[in-house]
Amino acid sequence: MTAAPAERRPVVVTACPDGPVLVRGADVVQDADGASHAVTRPVVAVCTCRRSGRMPWCDGTHKAVERAKRRKEQQGG
Ligand code: FES
Repeated sequence: MTAAPAERRPVVVTACPDGPVLVRGADVVQDADGASHAVTRPVVAVCTCRRSGRMPWCDGTHKAVERAKRRKEQQGG
């Protein structure tokens, strides 16, 4: 007799405005090149600005990108 498979929780993806997407409950994240990245945490932040130094994971660089964008807008450019 085999044990019943553990019940899987759904993967939940939440987009953060001007930031990453938060992925809850995933085992693997596949990047744009098709490479698979194992998920070792309950929640991971996946970069959407494509400026992270730790792709595919968000490293917070988007905050500096957003600040520079706002500064440029305030200066009229
Ligand atoms: S979204 Fe955070 S570094 Fe790209």
